[in-house]
Amino acid sequence: MGLPQLLAAAEAGFPTVGIDIDTTVTDRINRGVSPEVDTDPELLRQMVAGGRLKATTDFDAVCDSDCVVFCVPTSWSPEASPDLSAVTSAAREVGRRLRSPKLIVLESTVPPGSTREVILPLLEAGGLAVGSDFCLAFAPERLDPGNTSFSTLDIPKVVGGITPTCTALASRFYSRLTIEVHPVSSPEVAEATKVFENTFRFVNIGLANELAQVCSSLRISPREVLDAASTKPFGFMRHSPGPGVGGRCIPLAPRYFRWTAQRQGVGSKITDAAIAVNDRRPELVAKETVARVHEALAGQARPVVLIVGMAYKPGVGDVRGSVALTIASLLKDAGLRVQYHDPFVPTIAIDGERLASLPLTEDSIRSADCTLILCPHDEIDYEAIKTHSRCVLDPINMISSGLQRDLPS
Ligand SMILES: NC(=O)c1ccc[n+]([C@@H]2O[C@H](COP(=O)([O-])OP(=O)(O)OC[C@H]3O[C@@H](n4cnc5c(N)ncnc54)[C@H](O)[C@@H]3O)[C@@H](O)[C@H]2O)c1
Repeated sequence: MGLPQLLAAAEAGFPTVGIDIDTTVTDRINRGVSPEVDTDPELLRQMVAGGRLKATTDFDAVCDSDCVVFCVPTSWSPEASPDLSAVTSAAREVGRRLRSPKLIVLESTVPPGSTREVILPLLEAGGLAVGSDFCLAFAPERLDPGNTSFSTLDIPKVVGGITPTCTALASRFYSRLTIEVHPVSSPEVAEATKVFENTFRFVNIGLANELAQVCSSLRISPREVLDAASTKPFGFMRHSPGPGVGGRCIPLAPRYFRWTAQRQGVGSKITDAAIAVNDRRPELVAKETVARVHEALAGQARPVVLIVGMAYKPGVGDVRGSVALTIASLLKDAGLRVQYHDPFVPTIAIDGERLASLPLTEDSIRSADCTLILCPHDEIDYEAIKTHSRCVLDPINMISSGLQRDLPS
């Protein structure tokens, strides 16, 4: 998420430096090679060649900067609490080098209250005071990787500073990078906005998954229901069922939301239910696939499943947190042989076994006992799957034909 921001700032005329702890990332950027599929490679090359953008592992770059933006990862710890260790580590590095005046912005997704309670003390540790010596704001990263319709420039930026001066300065900075700035009264409002908008998406995907289960019992197509409901010009926003919610952004927010609700002593029953429904999907998909393959093959040893789409979402090659990986692993545990096709993921390791993406040809489709569609990349030839597959499992309803079968409840 940091690179698109860096490019937007460089394009707006700011000399920019990207700090990362991973030298493979900084080396690639300094060579003008984008690590991301949806970063414009030509723009990156131009900015690097023109000296407007460079990358380093050295936090001393902070000393010469007027503005520091944190885009480091945040996650959910195995102890069932927010893991903000990358944010706190980066904030400590910046805090040590903080000389006024500076604008500091946190963009990483965090539970409401984190900018004030977690980041501010680390920045003030050297004796400087927010509002007078430096400014601090939260402005969530709202990019949608793989979505070519909206870039950094097109997405309004929500900005909440610790003080009104912090909000005003951060808003001035972002007005150079985006189409619209939406200032709010505090970092907590901006943090809650981000957590809520992702939780909204997660909960509605859960509802769509529940619809798929009901439709399966009724023997009707959820896709047909959603197509019909989407004709309503108001009051309905389409969300689709799927094999689970992957990646490291959308599944994170509902956990932060629930954690915050618990800390405040209030309930989060709708979010809890959505987490339960969505988290169960990969296991349901794997079970249904195993049952379907065995039903069709009557006990043949090591049937082959061809998974179509390994990435965590369409249009990207990122497999971190992908539910396809979980499902592939469950299928292997159940004794099935797994092959895959993904135009964005050339190779992958599943439980230590390295696999390469197969071309999606008549031969590769026919040689599998079952095709399982898990990630709806536009680039996939669904007609070829429909025509040549011996059996298709389609939890994302990409193929609306007699081959389609929805998951049981
Ligand atoms: N990926 C998304 O779809 C998305 C969308 C909107 C918001 N976000 C949020 O944006 C933030 C960043 O997400 P991401 O997907 O870019 O994360 P990421 O895991 O890709 O990490 C970004 C970079 O941070 C570097 N890094 C890790 N620890 C560091 C440290 N202590 N100091 C400096 N660099 C460090 C990593 O090496 C990596 O190159 C997260 O909070 C995420 O929730 C993500």
